[in-house]
Amino acid sequence: MDKPVLLEVKDLKTYFYSGKHALKAVDSVSFSIREGEVFGLVGESGSGKSITCKSLIGLIHRPGRIAGGSIRYRGQELAGLSEKALTAVRGKEIGMIFQEPMVALNPVLRIGQQITESFKDPGLSGEEKHARAVELLRRVGIPNPEQRMREYPHQFSGGMRQRVVIAIALASNPKLLLADEPTTALDVTIQAQILQLLRELKDEYGMAMVLVTHNLGVAAQICDRIAVMYGGHIMELGPTRELFAHPQNPYTRSLLASLPVNKRKGEPLSAIPGTPPNLGEMPVGCPFAPRCARAQDVCFSQPPAEREVGPGHTCRCHFADGPCREEDDCGKPQ
Ligand SMILES: Nc1ncnc2c1ncn2[C@@H]1O[C@H](COP(=O)(O)OP(=O)(O)O)[C@@H](O)[C@H]1O
Ligand code: SF4
Ligand SMILES: [Mg+2]
Repeated sequence: MDKPVLLEVKDLKTYFYSGKHALKAVDSVSFSIREGEVFGLVGESGSGKSITCKSLIGLIHRPGRIAGGSIRYRGQELAGLSEKALTAVRGKEIGMIFQEPMVALNPVLRIGQQITESFKDPGLSGEEKHARAVELLRRVGIPNPEQRMREYPHQFSGGMRQRVVIAIALASNPKLLLADEPTTALDVTIQAQILQLLRELKDEYGMAMVLVTHNLGVAAQICDRIAVMYGGHIMELGPTRELFAHPQNPYTRSLLASLPVNKRKGEPLSAIPGTPPNLGEMPVGCPFAPRCARAQDVCFSQPPAEREVGPGHTCRCHFADGPCREEDDCGKPQ
């Protein structure tokens, strides 16, 4: 049986204002996440992944604001909540880790203090907090945790810092962890270790997770479902396996085509031709039209509506059916 829905985002719009002009960083985004589920937000840089994530926990500041839509966490509306109410949810129910661990760490406080301050249970004694912090550091894979509790962030390597940040996020036992490019700044081998750690922890803690990444390959390793974003929109959303087996949107197909595993030997690792859209001047029709090998006249005049194209699989594309074509170059059989 399906687990209960934890988070439901409907028609979210997050805009940045400059005079009368609105830059639509996130435009009519909808998705839901069930308890214990790992949900991926994938897309090129600037597609609105981080802003979607930050919107969920009220980290949007002027000139940006949530201009519309709803964010329901366990039935409670978060959009428009006061900063004080949001802080409570942020600290306790929803944890967050970012690409650059130093952003989340205080450089002048010892690691131990930063973890113990994150425990929300008022009944814990100092000793209990200390013991729990040591245990958490051990759990996230930090050797000699007793000793390292007394050290400062600069004494840790990038991978170890990210482990500390994960420990801090776990300290309040969140039900939802937002992980924004948590491995992007790390070496490839360390990336794999951190992903593996996150995978283990979400099972142990029964947490749901939003994983933001520009790398579809990374998302595939851990996500149950993936939403592909482009120009502030979700272009395609579906279960990971279904999305890889039957990608319907040309943009998703291009992302798949650029994965190393789908390249023939000697072929260059190509980025998608063209540049991401200028969000201040979005095309009238489909946001991907200027770069889409499949675009027809209708794509330049009408935005594609969201359509169901498979079980739990939706897509925005006027031509979201049928097999891949040669120009999609997605490495799949034609
Ligand atoms: N503080 C800001 N002020 C104005 N525009 C912003 C700001 N932060 C983000 N944006 C806009 O929102 C778009 C989406 O940003 P973001 O969600 O960070 O992209 P990404 O998918 O790389 O995480 C950016 O392309 C940028 O145009
Ligand atoms: S609607 Fe048209 S331009 Fe947009 S992805 Fe589909 S085929 Fe390409
Ligand atoms: Mg980002």
